[in-house]
Amino acid sequence: MERKCFSTPWSRSIFLSEITRNDNAIYIVAVVAERIVGYAGIWIILDEGGHITNIGVDPAFRRQGIGRGLLEELTLQAMCRGGIIAMTLEVRLSNYEAQALYRKLGFEPSGIRKEYYQDDKEDALIMWRELVEKRTNVGN
Ligand SMILES: CC(C)(COP(=O)(O)OP(=O)(O)OC[C@H]1O[C@@H](n2cnc3c(N)ncnc32)[C@H](O)[C@@H]1OP(=O)(O)O)[C@@H](O)C(=O)NCCC(=O)NCCS
Repeated sequence: MERKCFSTPWSRSIFLSEITRNDNAIYIVAVVAERIVGYAGIWIILDEGGHITNIGVDPAFRRQGIGRGLLEELTLQAMCRGGIIAMTLEVRLSNYEAQALYRKLGFEPSGIRKEYYQDDKEDALIMWRELVEKRTNVGN
């Protein structure tokens, strides 16, 4: 599925290492009729918040709310386990589908990382989502 979703897919060994050795990572899958149809991951980074590493949904199961469900569940787990207050990610400038999903969940564009993707040097859009409302000081 990773190969179906990404032009520079992570290898099996990267996934194994992430799942078994990275204590600061959370990975979840979406299952339909005992078949994995989507997955998503996040790194919990102190002082930064949660950094979404990847999210992919099997093309045959897209536009059914699975991507949204994965992100919502990942957010809940990261907030409970890591106490994060914000989340960030990079997305290809041309990846309108993913950007639409992120915007729907409250992520906002905050900058560009030039030539971020190694295969074709495409720029990445950086997006952030605050998970708690900013407090404002009210004088008495
Ligand atoms: C991005 C991706 C994970 C979305 O998964 P999905 O399960 O299809 O997303 P959902 O069904 O939960 O969509 C939720 C909302 O996102 C937006 N969205 C998702 N896909 C969209 C598309 N192709 N066009 C426009 N909006 C889209 C819509 O607002 C949608 O809500 P709606 O269906 O009620 O209109 C999926 O397209 C994918 O795996 N893409 C390839 C991998 C990838 O690009 N990952 C992101 C890397 S940064």
